[in-house]
Amino acid sequence: MTAPLDRPRRLRSTSAMRSLVREHTLRPADLVLPMFVREGAEESAPISSMPGVVQHSMDSLVRAATEAVERGVGGVMLFGVPEHKDAIGSGATDPDGILNRALARLRSELGDDTVIMADLCLDEFTDHGHCGVLDAAGRVDNDATLLRYREMALAQAEAGAHLLGPSGMMDGQIAAIRDELDTAGRQDTALYAYTAKYASAFYGPFREAVDSSLQGDRRTYQQDPANSHEALRELELDLAEGADLVMVKPGMPYLDVLRDVAQASPVPVGAYQVSGEYAMIEAASANGWIDRDRSVLESLLAFRRAGASTVLTYYASEVAGWYRDGLPAHLREFL
Ligand code: PBG
Repeated sequence: MTAPLDRPRRLRSTSAMRSLVREHTLRPADLVLPMFVREGAEESAPISSMPGVVQHSMDSLVRAATEAVERGVGGVMLFGVPEHKDAIGSGATDPDGILNRALARLRSELGDDTVIMADLCLDEFTDHGHCGVLDAAGRVDNDATLLRYREMALAQAEAGAHLLGPSGMMDGQIAAIRDELDTAGRQDTALYAYTAKYASAFYGPFREAVDSSLQGDRRTYQQDPANSHEALRELELDLAEGADLVMVKPGMPYLDVLRDVAQASPVPVGAYQVSGEYAMIEAASANGWIDRDRSVLESLLAFRRAGASTVLTYYASEVAGWYRDGLPAHLREFL
């Protein structure tokens, strides 16, 4: 038996040695907190498939967002849950609609202390649950939807959003929205394109979070989970159309896509740890099958390692709090 010449274990021998050679770390400012706000709610209501996540009332939204910002999160991404839905998603473009009112309220409370982001998509607002408007045959009408996105973008920018997140996967959506904003003198409103967004089962709990009653599925506009090349095509298009940041979604099942996009992208890349990923970690740890806190940080670190500069996660505020208060001993490996 010969002794090994190379001994990688030397660099793993003590906590101090591991810390010295650690390549990737997390910081609160890398994290973005997605939040749900419900029209007409007096107080926050739990989402059963996402333990710990709630549909906020306006007041609880302000409290929770303020706390997240005090802990140092990089931004908040708002989703609206309207009281009334219709075929064209009227609530999305109404300045008095729940999402636009919440954006305005947060901007007035938080100013420029954090980055206020808005989900720009019709599915929370349509009674059929699709991300766009339908044609006479019941198909999602791409170009008619772009007209709605233009209006929605303007309403969100006027309400005070710093960054709009078009998540509907319509062709040409970034160009259309950029054009609308620029024409209205809103050159400073930035666009966070959901560039590679897959038709995923991992959005399951989100449907409950926004009271969606989706009829059918989203496979004619969201990407096929079997494909990776088209993510690079979507990236090229979004960059050419004016995206300021790009995103890959979901997160953990698509780390390969995240890596590809991060290597090819000249603009910052984000990853979205979606509702189903959150639900899996919560369910497994509630059963005592995995260590919750370490699984949370390991999963977030994986996005950074794969090339994400920002991570959207329902854990953002909690994790930012851990870092602010100093990581407990069992989590020091993430410092
Ligand atoms: C579309 C949108 C969805 C999510 C974020 N934006 C739902 C979908 O595309 O089906 C899912 C987020 C999550 O599951 O956490 N408005």
